[in-house]
Order: sequence, then C-alpha cells, then structure tokens
Amino acid sequence: ANERSLILFKPDAVQRRLCGELLSRIEKRGLKIVGLKMLMVTKELSAQHYAEHVEKPFYPLLEEFITSGPVVALVVEGPEAISVMRTMMGSTNGRESDLGTIRGDFGLSRQMNLIHGSDGPEAAAREIPIYFRPEELIEYETTL
Ligand code: CMP
Repeated sequence: ANERSLILFKPDAVQRRLCGELLSRIEKRGLKIVGLKMLMVTKELSAQHYAEHVEKPFYPLLEEFITSGPVVALVVEGPEAISVMRTMMGSTNGRESDLGTIRGDFGLSRQMNLIHGSDGPEAAAREIPIYFRPEELIEYETTL
C-alpha cells in the first residue's frame, strides 16, 4: 500500500554534516518527500514522540541526545514506505547494522544512530502530526 513515514535526521546526523547524504539516499530510492523542516526537539516534544520509552531506564540519555541540537524532520511517501525506510536505515545498533544501510555505513552507536523512522502504520499515524500540521504536508504528482 502507499504509505507515509515520519523520518528524523537526529542531532548526530546534523552535527556530522550527513543530512545531504541521507536525503540523497531517500530521494534516489524513489520515495517522495511530502514534508521537510529543521527544528529543535524540546523535552515536551521528546516525551510525546518517545511516549513508549519515557519510563525506560535509558530515557534520560535519549532525551538528552535528541534535544541536544537541531533535527531535520521529513515525511516520505511511497509504496510500503515504512518498511522500505526501515530496511534502508538498518537495525537500531549501528554495530550490528548491515553494510549498505544508513546506520551500518555511518555509525557504531545504539544511541546516536543518525535516523529515526516510524516502525509501523500506527506509529506513523501518531508521529506525523507531532511534527507537521496538515497544511505543511504537500500533495503533488510526480511523473518520473
Ligand atoms: P529510535 O528507533 O529512534 O527510537 C528509540 C531510541 O531509543 C532508539 O532509536 C535508540 O536511539 C534508543 N535506544 C533504544 N534502546 C536503547 C538502549 N537500550 N539504550 C540506549 N538507547 C536506546
């Protein structure tokens, strides 16, 4: 099915000047960008996004990291966009990610793992409105 996924280039990706590389991979794969912005994730936004992790022991570190600098938020659209992005990202821990994936090619960290992508349709439906108002998502046709 045609899907939308909420993607974040995390603060480490911005710091390491990897946003262009990550965006380029997404575009070359053929996914359509329907929303794009840079922002700071506040503590409130972090708690909303990571609601399922707020009580976990690693949450304070996760919050510190995700609020440490700007992120780039995108909504990408395409056939099976959610699982296509998850495959492109690789597994959570960069040390275990396959070569050819974003995390496998650029990282060794579990925390600073460069990119977030929605892990299923329910997560995407919940996460997209946290970052984008409806009018910030652009519907357009692509013919190529
Ligand atoms: P992400 O998939 O964006 O969403 C949850 C994040 O929590 C995950 O990326 C990791 O960055 C982080 N995370 C998950 N598990 C752990 C853990 N055990 N210790 C530290 N960070 C974690």
